[in-house]
Amino acid sequence: MDKFVIKGGRRLTGEVTISGAKNAAVAILPAVILSDEPCIIENVPSISDVNICLRILKEMGVGVVPLGKDTYKIDPTSIRNFVVPYETARKMRASYYFLGALLGRFNKARVSMPGGCPLGARPIDQHLKAFAALGAEYNLSQGMIDLKAAKLRGNQIFFDVVTVGATMNAMLAAVKAEGLTVIENAAKEPHIVDLANFLNTMGANIMGAGTDVIKIRGVQKLHGAVYSVIPDQIEAGTFMAAVAATKGDVLIKNVIPKHLESITKKMEKIGVNIEQFDDSIRVWVDGPLVKANIKTAPHPGFPTDMQSQIATLLTLAEGTSIITENIWEQRFGYVDELRRMGADITVNGKVALIEGTGKLMGAPVKACDLRAGAALIIAGLAASGVTEIEDIFHIERGYDCMEGKLRQLGADIEKVSIPDTKSEKNSEHGKAAV
Ligand code: EPZ
Repeated sequence: MDKFVIKGGRRLTGEVTISGAKNAAVAILPAVILSDEPCIIENVPSISDVNICLRILKEMGVGVVPLGKDTYKIDPTSIRNFVVPYETARKMRASYYFLGALLGRFNKARVSMPGGCPLGARPIDQHLKAFAALGAEYNLSQGMIDLKAAKLRGNQIFFDVVTVGATMNAMLAAVKAEGLTVIENAAKEPHIVDLANFLNTMGANIMGAGTDVIKIRGVQKLHGAVYSVIPDQIEAGTFMAAVAATKGDVLIKNVIPKHLESITKKMEKIGVNIEQFDDSIRVWVDGPLVKANIKTAPHPGFPTDMQSQIATLLTLAEGTSIITENIWEQRFGYVDELRRMGADITVNGKVALIEGTGKLMGAPVKACDLRAGAALIIAGLAASGVTEIEDIFHIERGYDCMEGKLRQLGADIEKVSIPDTKSEKNSEHGKAAV
């Protein structure tokens, strides 16, 4: 097992380049299964969620050839099965995208129930509702979801909740279904648009992605394509919060400013200066940080995946801030760890009250999920003294070489190996990516 050791109190300065978006890549890579020809996918982040995705594809007989640091040639023409085994699937939350892609290609799929996660229950009833609407039957046995359809036919799908995963899966299953599919109450995140753009590049006919009504006209075949994954808005937001927490001054490159709008607006209210360019933003702080009220919401609202990072920043601001987490029941797991560093946070249900103390102290802490881990890194960078973060495998599922990028900006952060104890090894396998 590894841990991060951070000596805090150093300003982040210089330039950093954002990697491809995790939540787009983990949907686009399975989507290649739908093509009758090889695809080349660029700007793929080097993170463990993506590595598991590529491993699943290889285990199915799909050709995966690295063409450079973040580019892969993926050839689905030799695919030989439609099963995603329990052992691999449960390690990655997004393994459920193989359901939509395999169903869309083979009219059948067998994928293990995605693992639980520390965000609370993560049901997949809306995914199954979408598959059933298109004509698939599903059966759950031994932790595996079995889907099969004599024929997939376009239909009306109305989601009871706004759900990124089910919107993605409905698109994957519908692109080759016969006739028109209309998805209503669809999620509008940038990664939804990215998947739709990739599918259309392969010859699909999808209109309206990024709005709450997506129309898909089924096509017979999908051909090969060359496609570049969008930059990761959450990685960019995480660096914005880290720069602000250390009162630094950094140019964050390879971003789409439009995707960061809700984060930028909140940061500016807190007292962070942000200058936007075509594909980069300059972030700096030259005055006090002040309190803010944050309510997470589906895009274009403030992203839940930035909640723990901005909460950490607000522990350093003057005044009392309020955070309302409207997406996940249990997304304040990081609060206990921040309290060990001197933060004054009170959680009551889905609301956290943050008394800005203006300072944090280094301490040994543990990451409990991907973005909680990112929050602890931000806290460690801003704290006085040394912070040691364990269970960093959570962080490495979604951030491409975080410590290297931070060191480049002047942070004193090292990855240190610690001897595995048997229980820790087992616990890692039990955890699923978020
Ligand atoms: C995706 O999860 C992201 N993960 C999450 O990012 C992100 O927090 C979430 O979207 C919201 O933006 C990936 O893309 C791999 P949802 P997903 O379906 O698709 C309920 C990170 O940090 N719901 O949009 O699982 C659900 O319980 C991770 O990168 C149902 O009720 O989220 C939740 O309350 C963490 N039934 C809400 O909808 C369903 O069938 C939104 O979930 C599906 C979801």
